[in-house]
Amino acid sequence: MKQIEWDKLGFGFSDVNCHIRFTWKDGEWDKGEFVKDPYITMHIGASCLHYGQECFEGMKAFRQQNGKIVIFRADENAKRMYRTAIRTVMPPVPVEMFIDAAKRVVKANEEYVPPFGTGGSMYIRPLLIGTGPQIGVAPAKEYTFIMMVMPVGAYYKGGLKPVRAVVFDDWDRAAPHGMGDVKVGGNYAASLFAHEKAKHDGWPVELYLDAKSHTYIEEFATSNFLGIKKDGTYVTPDSCSVLPSVTNMSLKQLAADLGIKVECRPVPFDEISEFAEVAACGTAVVITPVWEITRGDRVIKISDPDSCGPTLQKLYNTVQGIQYGTLPDTHNWCFEV
Ligand SMILES: Cc1ncc(COP(=O)(O)O)c(C=O)c1O
Repeated sequence: MKQIEWDKLGFGFSDVNCHIRFTWKDGEWDKGEFVKDPYITMHIGASCLHYGQECFEGMKAFRQQNGKIVIFRADENAKRMYRTAIRTVMPPVPVEMFIDAAKRVVKANEEYVPPFGTGGSMYIRPLLIGTGPQIGVAPAKEYTFIMMVMPVGAYYKGGLKPVRAVVFDDWDRAAPHGMGDVKVGGNYAASLFAHEKAKHDGWPVELYLDAKSHTYIEEFATSNFLGIKKDGTYVTPDSCSVLPSVTNMSLKQLAADLGIKVECRPVPFDEISEFAEVAACGTAVVITPVWEITRGDRVIKISDPDSCGPTLQKLYNTVQGIQYGTLPDTHNWCFEV
């Protein structure tokens, strides 16, 4: 293994020992095998290439203070991928098989899990694709399930850094009763154009409104929206086209544990000025505070551009404490490898 400079790691692919690969054929999953080669050979007619029979997940393993390696809430990612598979007519990966695959592949790449104290983690990317050839529009007859892993660095090296966000009224991400609530690649293809424009124009994240009326807040391209109202309430949108985030689910629980009122309901965009703190939340960075939101000519300042609000900071510290084992895992969210 090449010496890794843990403090220089970003968020990207890197070579590890292996990934784990399973095949579904004749109605069942095989036992899976470790594969070193990061390339895959498939039929040019594979359904994932033509009809988007593809879905994925994202979760993390952490090396804790006591040396144990744990995977955070692997069961929730397993359940979400199960739902996505059903929605896209792919054979769902049983929850137990998914968790077991995650443990096996992390174990097989143990030395790539960043040491405790570096702020890094091992990112786990499960992928389910239709690999059987299918030229008429129909589900494939063969599928591949892969779990790949890679060490990733601490996102925030000097404390949480608030960002500016933008709302574009020209592009939507997901329609009501479409695919927004499941994790398919097409949702990300749908957001790439706006995402690149936002980045080019100086906004690191873009916020989507409901596609039907452009009245309600939905979510960011790769993370959920949460806000802390001036009265301290935790508010997050309830919508059929938002991806149910495992991070948001965890933060809601932790907020409730702290005695914070939690509301999951439609959130009109016009309510934004009533928030004292706003954030994007997801596995990659846990919390990205948002200090300003632009929509057309309107620029809405929410909070201090230089520091994270106190409630977001507390929630962030609590999640990270559970992940790195410096706080008790009172909800049994950590799966030991
Ligand atoms: C569209 C979208 N929303 C929300 C999230 C956050 O979900 P999680 O907290 O499970 O990572 C993600 C990332 O997976 C995402 O891609």
